[in-house]
Amino acid sequence: MKLFTLILFLLPLSLHGIEEKVKIKAIDLLKPLKQNLMQTLQSEIKAKGIIGGIEACQIEAPKIAEALQEKTKKIELGRTSHKLRNSNNAPRDWVKPYLKEFVSSGKIPPVQVVRLSGERYGYLEPIMLTQPLCLQCHGNEIESEVMVRLKALYPNDDAAGFKMGEFRGLFWVEMDLTEI
Ligand code: HEC
Repeated sequence: MKLFTLILFLLPLSLHGIEEKVKIKAIDLLKPLKQNLMQTLQSEIKAKGIIGGIEACQIEAPKIAEALQEKTKKIELGRTSHKLRNSNNAPRDWVKPYLKEFVSSGKIPPVQVVRLSGERYGYLEPIMLTQPLCLQCHGNEIESEVMVRLKALYPNDDAAGFKMGEFRGLFWVEMDLTEI
């Protein structure tokens, strides 16, 4: 009986420990993604203007995410959204219900650790539109020259019309517990 009580007591603790481990690893993996994306965006805009920034996002953003995946360790990561610019960033199935919930909640969503199957875990972190810079390519009043370029590169673009402070999408990570 005592052992049973002990197991019941320890179970939530160990689950909490796993969540913490996944979270720490995910934050660590996403740090360079965030930094590289921002640096590339800012330096390209400085050098070539907003149009240059679009190209940086189009060409560099997927490369940056790709370079940070740890394929041998089955670690994958990226960005996704309910309103996509690039359909390659479409949400994975396990992410969809969270996206739906976060969009309808109207609040800043919390980070989320999700058990996928067996030892595989997912991590989600909200991306909020908190910088005026973002609105130049995702806002309500995008310059016509910028709009033309966006439409040419992304004919099905759904990632304009956002307002400051809005939920823009998610950073996601997938990993095996055995590999971290
Ligand atoms: C210079 C224009 C530009 C600016 C400024 C910009 N973005 Fe983007 N954004 C893009 C382009 C282009 C893509 C598509 C990238 C691709 O092809 O993977 C994109 C994609 C994204 C995505 C991935 C989901 C999707 O729709 O494909 C997110 C999330 C995102 N942007 C958020 C932001 C945030 C937050 C900011 C402000 C920090 C920002 N963007 C600033 C042009 C821009």
